[in-house]
Amino acid sequence: MSYSVKVLDHYENPRNVGSFGKEEEGVATGMVGAPACGDVMKLQIKVGKGGVIEDAKFKTYGCGSAIASSSLVTEWVKGKTVEQALGIKNTQIAEELALPPVKIHCSILAEDAIKAAVADYKKKHADQVVG
Ligand code: FES
Ligand code: FES
Repeated sequence: MSYSVKVLDHYENPRNVGSFGKEEEGVATGMVGAPACGDVMKLQIKVGKGGVIEDAKFKTYGCGSAIASSSLVTEWVKGKTVEQALGIKNTQIAEELALPPVKIHCSILAEDAIKAAVADYKKKHADQVVG
């Protein structure tokens, strides 16, 4: 299988690899796995005032398309509110990276990772939403 230029770019120069300290203010984590292939993706968001995502990091154990998808979404979520981040669709990721049909689930993994991270954020901050 040949990868697209954009996949190779993100694969060879992944953006925002790593993780935040769990104790850091506003950090939420989404960890998801793809049953189809066993790949695992961890996406962390650092959310500031007003629910705006200030920074994002990822660690992905998986194929080039999964790494490229997670690298791409760390760029896309920055500056968005958590609600806006939920609007990122796997189809947009697949289109941007020109993923072939067999690699569509890699982009779904990235969408799921965003949802999981936002859910974690909401769970942690539920107490602050009230009042
Ligand atoms: Fe092997 Fe994703 S299926 S790395
Ligand atoms: Fe399974 Fe890419 S995430 S092959």
